[in-house]
Amino acid sequence: MSDRITEALGLKSRPFGKEISPDLLWMDNGRSEAVDRLLDTVTHRQHALVTGEPGVGKTTVLRALRHRLSPTGFNVVYIAHVTLGKRDFFRQMCIALGVAPKATPAAMFEAIQRECVHSAAERRAHTVVVLDEVQLMPDSTMSQLHVLANFEWDSDPLLSLVFVGLPELHGKLRMGIHRSLLTRIHTKVELSPGTPELTAAYVRHRLTDAGARTELFTGDGLAVLHEETGGLLRSIDVLAQASLRLAVAEDTKLIDRDLVRRALHHTPLA
Ligand SMILES: Nc1ncnc2c1ncn2[C@@H]1O[C@H](COP(=O)(O)OP(=O)(O)OP(=O)(O)O)[C@@H](O)[C@H]1O
Ligand SMILES: [Mg+2]
Repeated sequence: MSDRITEALGLKSRPFGKEISPDLLWMDNGRSEAVDRLLDTVTHRQHALVTGEPGVGKTTVLRALRHRLSPTGFNVVYIAHVTLGKRDFFRQMCIALGVAPKATPAAMFEAIQRECVHSAAERRAHTVVVLDEVQLMPDSTMSQLHVLANFEWDSDPLLSLVFVGLPELHGKLRMGIHRSLLTRIHTKVELSPGTPELTAAYVRHRLTDAGARTELFTGDGLAVLHEETGGLLRSIDVLAQASLRLAVAEDTKLIDRDLVRRALHHTPLA
């Protein structure tokens, strides 16, 4: 899609948008290692916990994982709405798995189990349920999850759960009532905000994907971008986009420290 920014800067698409095809994602060593460990975990039919600050790139790492999993060997479902009571949560899970919801949590629980057995037996597909924003899940719902985590058929685990959330999710799982769930999770992946070098590499990657042929940000522009965003990818997107917009408004193609600092005041990051 062409607009003022892409036209003025000679780009083929708008950089720093949310829609990125899974094969164009930026993968630094930390992310590649995270995806490899998650791949290994679900391949061994185990459960995982993924934590990190808002906008660090957790959900995107899970998209990269899904892209790596064979669609015939795995049945991956993603549930983003977890602020639900037990019954509505199980309803949501039934719908995600293509099972007709039932009247009671117990009946839905059984239907989900049957679907996982069916998927494993008929299609040889292992079910992977990604639960996002789990720090928001009510304790009463979370306390049901250890039973799902225990699903077995002939002592073969039937389901992998991947819990994704902010760093406090780990603290929540350490609480007395959730400890039995925590002991069933095999892998923890913690995504940390990157270094200034990684911020620069990320910005270059996204600009190159958008068709940039020249460096639009100067070295000190990138340094400020990192300083002001702490290396969190979503914040980098916001500030980089504001900087491009301001550059176009001021008719310049060189985004330096001064311009990024001024663009900061056009964002809520200031
Ligand atoms: N690997 C990546 N390649 C390219 N862009 C990315 C990548 N990871 C994250 N982003 C960009 O950063 C934004 C935020 O990433 P994401 O939604 O994955 O963060 P999050 O950690 O799940 O945040 P939250 O805690 O708010 O859910 C994405 O919309 C995308 O624009
Ligand atoms: Mg997310």
